[in-house]
Amino acid sequence: MKHLIDPTDLTKAETDEILRLASDMILDRGKYQDRMAHRRLATLFYEPSTRTRLSFTSAMMELGGGVLGFSDAGSSSVSKGETVQDTVRVVSCFADVIAMRHHLEGAPLAAAQVSPVPIINAGDGSHSHPTQTLTDLLTIQRELGHIDGITIGFCGDLRFGRTVHSLIKALARYDNVEVVLIAPDELRLPDYIRQDVCGRMGVSCREVKTIEEVMPQLDVLYMTRVQKERFLDEDEFDRVKDSFVLDNARMSLAKEKMAVLHPLPRVNEILPEVDADPRAAYFRQVENGKFVRMALICKLLEWKDDPAHGMPPKDDGISDVRCPNHRCISNSEAVEHKVRYGADGSLRCAWCDARISSK
Ligand code: NCD
Repeated sequence: MKHLIDPTDLTKAETDEILRLASDMILDRGKYQDRMAHRRLATLFYEPSTRTRLSFTSAMMELGGGVLGFSDAGSSSVSKGETVQDTVRVVSCFADVIAMRHHLEGAPLAAAQVSPVPIINAGDGSHSHPTQTLTDLLTIQRELGHIDGITIGFCGDLRFGRTVHSLIKALARYDNVEVVLIAPDELRLPDYIRQDVCGRMGVSCREVKTIEEVMPQLDVLYMTRVQKERFLDEDEFDRVKDSFVLDNARMSLAKEKMAVLHPLPRVNEILPEVDADPRAAYFRQVENGKFVRMALICKLLEWKDDPAHGMPPKDDGISDVRCPNHRCISNSEAVEHKVRYGADGSLRCAWCDARISSK
């Protein structure tokens, strides 16, 4: 069964196929209007979302399909104590494909392990957000004409920003991508991603202290919101919340052909004055999100039972060691403590990627 839990669940060829289909859908929307007739998408959103949920809903509606689900877990059986896996066993009786957003990291993977229909991870904690990654890739391709060879700056909350984690992983599969990290010390990219992607997968990664010093070299500037809801300490949030702000003065240092992306919602990190700049691509990015989700739904249902489109292995075995991450599904629900070896040889939690021990 093909699911999308992590961006690398899609091969590079499958990713490109989805981007190609999305591009064709943009050119000829009418051709696809009945593609999902009589099919249902369930959106199970355990965490607040506006654009991602509406984007999935409008994607399925444009394909002629139906949508059901919840956007507030409090109004579902979850509030009676139902597990994610049981909820999915039930909902899969009513839907052909399920998009799930969850505050617990690894929850969509737990769902995928029992689901007879494809599961799409629509964001799990601060871990992963693969459909935003497809959106970002399509946006870069449409804005610049290519993904290979770009220099991309990630700015803001690189620690909790799941969209950043997923996009960096996906970019590691393109040629000659250079990644520049711009974040305060408190919000640096987690080590497990640095080690897997920047170390082993060979992406060139460097850190800088200001937007200004790198702006003239960037093809893409990926701005992010500081993820208030993931901070345990309010003072720490207050200290870092306005660390980096993009304004017209900083934009004047950028290349003429450059794209500013942001997964949205923005708070203070891009001033409204930047919106009129033709390089501000973040609202176009929202629309691209609908088209990639349309393409993804079609492809997952097409690949569902095709052995040529399987899933990569998700773990290297079961362990009796608990995951140290309190946001991990394995610390809230009765799933086995599965582990895998990271690219650097360290032992990781197979649900959320947290490091359990070094080599
Ligand atoms: C992002 C998310 O949910 O991770 N938003 C989105 O999916 N469009 C980014 C964010 O919330 O800051």
